[in-house]
Amino acid sequence: MPDMTIANKTFSNNSWQSILEEIKEEVAPLLSQGQVAAYIPELGRVDKNKFGMAVRLINGDLFEIGDSKTNFSVQSISKVFTLTKAFSILKDELWKRVGKEPSGNPFNSLIQLERENGKPRNPFINAGAIVVADCIANNYDDPLNYMIRFIRELADNKNLKLNVNVFQSEKKTGHRNAALAHFMKSYGNIQSEVGDVLDLYFGHCSLELNCVDLSNAFLYLANHGTHPISGKTYLSASQAKRLNALLLTCGTYDAAGDFAFKVGMPGKSGVGGGIAAIIPGLLSISVWSPGLDKHGNSLAGVKALELFTTKTGISIF
Ligand code: DON
Repeated sequence: MPDMTIANKTFSNNSWQSILEEIKEEVAPLLSQGQVAAYIPELGRVDKNKFGMAVRLINGDLFEIGDSKTNFSVQSISKVFTLTKAFSILKDELWKRVGKEPSGNPFNSLIQLERENGKPRNPFINAGAIVVADCIANNYDDPLNYMIRFIRELADNKNLKLNVNVFQSEKKTGHRNAALAHFMKSYGNIQSEVGDVLDLYFGHCSLELNCVDLSNAFLYLANHGTHPISGKTYLSASQAKRLNALLLTCGTYDAAGDFAFKVGMPGKSGVGGGIAAIIPGLLSISVWSPGLDKHGNSLAGVKALELFTTKTGISIF
C-alpha cells in the first residue's frame, strides 16, 4: 500500500510494523506484573507471558505482532457486540432500561444499582450488559447462537466458538452476576428468565477471539457503523458516534478517565486481558496480555495502546 500522511507524519507499511515491534519490546518487562483474572477459575490458568497486537486500517491493511493469532477469552469486549445488536433493534428505547453515565465503580458492583432502582449506569458494567443480554434474549429463539453467528460475521472468522470450560466456570461461580440479574428482575428490568439471560451473558463472555479477529470486528466502529471492507452497516452513523462515546467514557470502567488521559481512544477491555479500540476514520487496534491491573484492565495492554498513540501521534484528540 502507498504511504499515508496522518497528522503531519508519513506512515509506510514498514513504519507501522516497526512501531509495533518497538511497543512489544518496551512492554515486555510489564507482562509479569499484572494478575490474571482468577475469580473465574478457568481464566486463572492462562500464561501471563503472552502478548499480541493487531492494527487494521480502514483500507484493510493489517499489521500484527506477537501472539496476535492466539485465541483468548474475549469476556467484556463482547458487550460491545451485544450492545450493537440491542441498540440497532431497540434504538433509543434501550436507554429507558440502561443509562449512559460512567459508573465510577467496579464493573461488578451491586451498590449503585439499589440506589438507582435497578437501572444500571451504563451498558458495559456487568449489570448493564445483563440488561442488554435480556433485550436480545427477548428477540431471538436461540439468542446465543444468533450472537455467535453475528460475531463470526463481524470478525470475518467462521471458526469462532465459545470455550465450554470458561462458560461452565463462569456459570458455576458467577454468583454476583446472578445477584445483579435477580435484583434487576425484582425491579422489572429483566423480562426473560434469569437463567436464560445469564446463559447468553456467560456465553458471549466465553467466546474466544484473537487480536486479528478483534480488529476486524471493531472496524465498523471506526467507519461510522459500516464495515469498510464488507460494506455492511451495523449501526447508523449517529448510533456509532454514541457507542464510541460510551466506549470512551465507560469502556474501561472506573479507569475510563485514566485510559482516556493516557491512551486517547475509545476502547473496551475484558478480564481475559484483551482491549480493542478505534480511531474514527482511520483504524481499529487490539491488544492482548492476560495480566490485569487492579481495575481489571490488561496492564501491559493499556501501556501498549498508550505507546501506540504516543509514538504515532494519532489519537482522537
Ligand atoms: O461477568 C464477568 O465478570 C465477566 N464475564 C466479564 C467481566 C469483564 O471482562 C470485565 N472487564 N474488564
